[in-house]
Amino acid sequence: MTIETINQGIDVLPFRQLLIDRISTGYKEDTLNQLPAAIVQRMELNQIIKPAEYFFLLQKDNAEFTKLVNLLTVNETYFMREQGHFNVLVNRLFPEFIKNRKGNEKFKILSAGCSSGEELYSALISLTLKFGKEILKTIHAEGVDIDSEILEKAKKGIYYQNSFRNVDTYFIDAFFSEYEEQYKINENFLDSVFFSQVNLADSSFSFDSKWNVIFYRNVSIYFVPEIRKEIFNNLVNALKEPGYLFTGIVETSHHNFGILPLEEIDDHYLFNKKSEFFNKNSIRPDKFKKAKRDLPYKKKTQKLFSGSQQEKLKKDNSTRKITKEDSYEEAFQKALGLAKRGQRQKALESIESIFTKWTPNANDYLLRANILVSLEKLDQALTDCLTALEIEEWNRQAYLLLGIISRLKKNIPEAVKRFKGAIYIESTCWLSHFYLAEIFIENENFRDAKREYGISRKLLLESGSSECGLMIFPLSFNQEQLVHHCERKLGELEKR
Ligand SMILES: C[S@@+](CC[C@H](N)C(=O)[O-])C[C@H]1O[C@@H](n2cnc3c(N)ncnc32)[C@H](O)[C@@H]1O
Repeated sequence: MTIETINQGIDVLPFRQLLIDRISTGYKEDTLNQLPAAIVQRMELNQIIKPAEYFFLLQKDNAEFTKLVNLLTVNETYFMREQGHFNVLVNRLFPEFIKNRKGNEKFKILSAGCSSGEELYSALISLTLKFGKEILKTIHAEGVDIDSEILEKAKKGIYYQNSFRNVDTYFIDAFFSEYEEQYKINENFLDSVFFSQVNLADSSFSFDSKWNVIFYRNVSIYFVPEIRKEIFNNLVNALKEPGYLFTGIVETSHHNFGILPLEEIDDHYLFNKKSEFFNKNSIRPDKFKKAKRDLPYKKKTQKLFSGSQQEKLKKDNSTRKITKEDSYEEAFQKALGLAKRGQRQKALESIESIFTKWTPNANDYLLRANILVSLEKLDQALTDCLTALEIEEWNRQAYLLLGIISRLKKNIPEAVKRFKGAIYIESTCWLSHFYLAEIFIENENFRDAKREYGISRKLLLESGSSECGLMIFPLSFNQEQLVHHCERKLGELEKR
């Protein structure tokens, strides 16, 4: 009996239906595609030959049902994954809590989709590193996951070397002891955490208490959009006010539904539940606007846009569609066409004429910025990008261009920040990954360069180079050459 032969005889539909009925799974197709293999594996272990017989067993045996679900989950995790989030926790969120703490209130951290516990323990270790181990008394930490077996591992706190791929030996020496060729986390951490089985996709489930911080990272990628939104809503309800929700870097843009405002703290994006946002139903929290006001280039754009002008701009943009759309569209397409054909000066004149006839929108500023970059007029291009961001706060193209401009101006930290911003907005932005790779390799950060080349190669192969996020493609290579470039760099990096 092999997986292939049995696979062909299995009608997975009833099994899928059972999963939906029992755990309302909203797993995406690629997760569900693993179902036949999982069924076969469990049938073999139970020495069952007929799928119908196994189906019958599944219906009556809860433990068996859980084992099948466990096989479908992807538990990949490691200590200090996406480390920047833990820095934000330690340097910003926890101190804010302490400042406003009432009585003996505890700082409550939840790891939703905690897998074997590395995420939750990383949070506690980070806090201990900064504030000492006594701080654990101030904290209530819980991890939940649907996978019962992985939770057992989390409770034991015993890990193979693989879990430490992102930390140095100091981390192991300070917080773990050797245990049968593995490493066991120190007892004080084990005593400070609780783990329990929860199906986040179960809409009838709600948490008993509210959390200051929720880590919900690298879990939603397996869900279809409706379930993603439902879980996100449940987690938002489970947050205190203020309360913060971290999603994985590649997941952040998928959750920017407008339910919670996204805030940038120390170059990292997280969702912030603030009472004033809910009470006044404002679009963005003041704090975020304040952070933007601190930008070094802000003065120039403020001159361009006073508050009343912005109001006018919104009004004009909403009426423009009805009255002037045709001729405006034509003018815009003409300027874009000229720019694409490399007739930069003419393209600039053409877009300038739009600015004199109509109130410009974000796209107009960005087309002009694209042209200005190609003419090496970087300061003007920069101002245009920032103005576009005034109009559309989360415009990926503006972030990309700001990255390119900062790189050309040799302001590397700013360039990295902007390219990362573009990835937060659209995780499949291969051009940002590509530029980050180039920056990292130039700065001899080989590990990150390898990762970024790998991602851009994968994205290029999946979706091609045409969707690069910019109106005018800045590189004179085709897709094949770009993939080849990434592969060559990956080869070089492999040898290091
Ligand atoms: C890839 S791991 C992520 C672990 C950790 N959050 C991290 O970022 O390293 C995803 C975890 O989500 C869990 N999971 C998947 N579906 C779930 C559900 N419906 N409810 C709760 N946990 C779920 C899986 O069992 C798995 O342990």
